[in-house]
Amino acid sequence: MQIHNINKVAVIGSGTMGSQIAMVCALAGYSVVLYDIENNNLIKAKESLQGHMNRRVQKGRLGEKEVNEGFSKINFTTNFEELKDVDFVIEAIVEKLEVKRELFKRLDEITPKHTILATNSSTIVSSKIADVTNRPEKVCNVHFFNPALIMELVEVVSGPHTSEETAQIAVEFVKDIQKVPVLLKKEISGFIANRILGKLMDEAVFLLENGYADHEEIDLVCMKALKHPIGPFALMDLTGIDVNYLVRMQRYEESGNEADMPAKIVQEKVRKGELGRKTGKGFYIYDQSNAKV
Ligand code: NAI
Repeated sequence: MQIHNINKVAVIGSGTMGSQIAMVCALAGYSVVLYDIENNNLIKAKESLQGHMNRRVQKGRLGEKEVNEGFSKINFTTNFEELKDVDFVIEAIVEKLEVKRELFKRLDEITPKHTILATNSSTIVSSKIADVTNRPEKVCNVHFFNPALIMELVEVVSGPHTSEETAQIAVEFVKDIQKVPVLLKKEISGFIANRILGKLMDEAVFLLENGYADHEEIDLVCMKALKHPIGPFALMDLTGIDVNYLVRMQRYEESGNEADMPAKIVQEKVRKGELGRKTGKGFYIYDQSNAKV
């Protein structure tokens, strides 16, 4: 199989990541099936994408014609049968191993034999999923960054089961959708960016929880002194504090090490449903009508 054999892409999960990944693929000219189990989330995804696209048109970054073509290429659906003729799958559902394994089993059954099955998971390496399929050599991680419409880099991670051909096609696919691929030749949980970022987050939370400074000050230092475009707390709000929580729980379940548990402040925010931008409140408060990406 070669990159030119890939015409139809499926994105599974229409949340924060999946909706934007679908639009990135559509704007690059691919036919896209955006599948979700929740119709409501598909409706929200469409509305949210409409907002992002309108802003781009207003700013002159995209033409109305391109945007309309992009939307016309996306099939928003809750019908699993629509996945039967896709060539490349990017899974972006909830960060729970068992749910992903169940989905990959079903994807293996419904998609053609040549189809590559990639996961956008932030932490779960594809070897934890590939064994439920009859095509482990076609399973890999293709990890986008948030917001996927804007962030250029995509980590492609080759597991011990992934064939060289699959990794190569995934890298070419990423280039084809106008992103910059980085290939990890061996898999490691968290990949490159999030492993480095994790250390930064831990230190930021330590400083906050121990009363050394407020989250605004810590963010300001990272932006002004370290030249980060956004501070760690604003970033957690953007990513979703629940995502940070699930990532740490996943790591804790793997290691059994208390130090890997989500920070107390993160647990408290999740308990209160203050998940960041998507709920209008996280470490900061957001006016949903002005929420910008
Ligand atoms: P989200 O919670 O915003 O969206 C998940 C979507 O998946 C929801 O619409 C939900 O209805 C749907 N879903 C759940 N189970 C499903 C199933 N069995 N079949 C079809 N759809 C299903 O999640 P988000 O933040 O978009 O994350 C998705 C994945 O992307 C996770 O694996 C996460 O680790 C990864 N990721 C997240 C990033 C972020 O900044 N949020 C960044 C990079 C990767």
